Amino acid sequence: GITRHYKFNVELQNVTRLCHTKSIVTVNGQFPGPRIVAREGDRLLIKVVNHVPNNISIHWHGIKQLRSGWADGPAYITQCPIQTGQSYVYNFTVVGQRGTLWWHAHISWLRSTLYGPIIILPKRNVPYPFVKPYREVPVIFGEWWNADPEAVITQAQQTGGGPNVSDAYTINGLPGPFYNCSAKDTFKLNVKPGKTYLLRLINAALNDELFFSIANHSLTVVEADAVYVKPFTTETLLITPGQTTNVLLKTKPNAPNANFYMIARPYVTGLGTFDNSSVAGILEYESSFGGLKTLPIFKPDLPALNDTSFATSFSSELRSLASAEFPANVPQKVDQQFFFTVGLGTNPCQKNQTCQGPNGARFAASVNNVSFILPSTALLQAHFLQKSNGVYATDFPTTPIDPFNYTGAPPNNTMVSDGTKVVVLKYNTTVELIMQDTSILGAESHPLHLHGFNFFVVGQGFGNFDPNNDPKKFNLVDPVERNTVGVPAGGWAAIRFRADNPGVWFMHCHLEIHTSWGLRMAWLVQDGKLPSQKILPPPADLPKC
Ligand code: C2O
Repeated sequence: GITRHYKFNVELQNVTRLCHTKSIVTVNGQFPGPRIVAREGDRLLIKVVNHVPNNISIHWHGIKQLRSGWADGPAYITQCPIQTGQSYVYNFTVVGQRGTLWWHAHISWLRSTLYGPIIILPKRNVPYPFVKPYREVPVIFGEWWNADPEAVITQAQQTGGGPNVSDAYTINGLPGPFYNCSAKDTFKLNVKPGKTYLLRLINAALNDELFFSIANHSLTVVEADAVYVKPFTTETLLITPGQTTNVLLKTKPNAPNANFYMIARPYVTGLGTFDNSSVAGILEYESSFGGLKTLPIFKPDLPALNDTSFATSFSSELRSLASAEFPANVPQKVDQQFFFTVGLGTNPCQKNQTCQGPNGARFAASVNNVSFILPSTALLQAHFLQKSNGVYATDFPTTPIDPFNYTGAPPNNTMVSDGTKVVVLKYNTTVELIMQDTSILGAESHPLHLHGFNFFVVGQGFGNFDPNNDPKKFNLVDPVERNTVGVPAGGWAAIRFRADNPGVWFMHCHLEIHTSWGLRMAWLVQDGKLPSQKILPPPADLPKC
């Protein structure tokens, strides 16, 4: 591989959407941010310079960061934030991965405007395991707030209630024709007939799982979270925040006298407020250029907002390629098993608050009843310097604290206590983790994201996990390998991974509001014996708190 240099100047930029101009935090003045392109095996040196009043950190979502935890990015987990006027060089090598990933800010709600694609091409002269596309196009879903999203989360935290919802969904930063004054801000994909296009889909929305479909065209899924999958064809995709999906779009052999909407809109499992609007882009055939106004535009049929059976059958179609060239190295033997409840709960209202949560309480979210509080210095640093005292505790409960009731579905699991706790794993431990959704407010799907690793989704189901029967149905042959899994609403997901990457690795719900409420925790993977199994010393420019 080669070394590629990028410079990210984090700066304010005026951007107008929905007839509303505001100053947002951007990289190099671009919204969405610049794309990073590399090949498998390349080293990336990305210098991030902070020119804005906010503290900043950037996460390279899905990059495995083998022994390079200092470059992972979540603020107060692997690094202190980059303060105003400071800079930090993220230095990592892309090992054993190729496909679509993305980068985003990993502090507060700044990722609402700070995000962009990461495209990892296969090594030179290594083909894709599918037809060579004529063109490749990143398609990033996002959300737009007329208000400052930082103020939206501050409001939610101060009132103990839910936050305001966004004002629009976007494709590549554009809301599209169904929103106020946004017809000119529409993503257009111009295509030639009879060609294959590779769409690199990324869900960068803060709080919404999305359905996506293109009218009169089917899509062939070939990759999820930068891992090839067995190709399958579908009219509609489901993509949770944090996930990426590559699809092939085969255009019609003769240019039709029509244009086609591509639409994304939310898949809703919770009871809270949400934005049920749709973002549309337009698929235009080349011969129809110029004739746009008179052409009919077809709309896709999307599943109903709460179509869980579609969501389930879509997820169950995803399988690892598991070929000789791209084997699925599923751990067959498990060293340590964990059972985590993931869900919403409540905390008592604090003195100076008037809480708008259920029964006058404050919203909280937890993993095994622990609502994770960010420390004031980075966990990885504390671990490396062996100064964990007062920073984190190692007694993260490996089973739920609240007596877990197997008869109610979803189980009532309300007791939440605050803490900064990690699970310690010996190097190379094989882990099986069952994540069980719980909620006092009705079940809600949670896209759980693990830093530092990919994992295999060996099973999922509805209701309460049955430890006697469900494991018999686990797929240990070709389960999908990914970094973010949607734990089904009122259900469970089982994952396996090998802890062969020393460091401190964040795991959290990728719905930003749930993360803010505490649905997050960290794994601490100890060094192995060999020098090549140890975390490297921190770089000299690592930011200080
Ligand atoms: Cu995409 Cu911890 O995040």
